[in-house]
Amino acid sequence: MSKLNRISISLEDDLLKRFDEHSLKQGYPTRSEALKTLMRRDLVQSEWDKGKEVAGAISIVYDHHKRGLATKVMTIQHDFGEVIISTQHVHLDHDNCFEIVVVKGLAEKIHELAAALRSVKGIKHHALTMTTAGGA
Ligand code: NI
Repeated sequence: MSKLNRISISLEDDLLKRFDEHSLKQGYPTRSEALKTLMRRDLVQSEWDKGKEVAGAISIVYDHHKRGLATKVMTIQHDFGEVIISTQHVHLDHDNCFEIVVVKGLAEKIHELAAALRSVKGIKHHALTMTTAGGA
């Protein structure tokens, strides 16, 4: 674990009050933890913006009865095998499938995969969760 630093920052009363109330509601144990989370979130965003190696999850929900849809989703995943770590498929009910594709690789490639899946006609919901591969 790296050395801890104590810093002091200047900010307006109102901003601090609102931030503390917000952090409490969000469940952060301390102001420091809340600030660290915000700082890391910004660093993660920067990794994605700069096209560095990142990790994430693409979630999709679709009806597997839709003609050709499941095959298309699978074909895209085969095309992007180099950035896919694992895929979890959950049969939500008789019709709906929920798939979580865990990815790691260059941000640009992952955006490309996310866009390819988003473009499949019939996908009911699509979300990309962006996180760090450990660098942030
Ligand atoms: Ni299914």
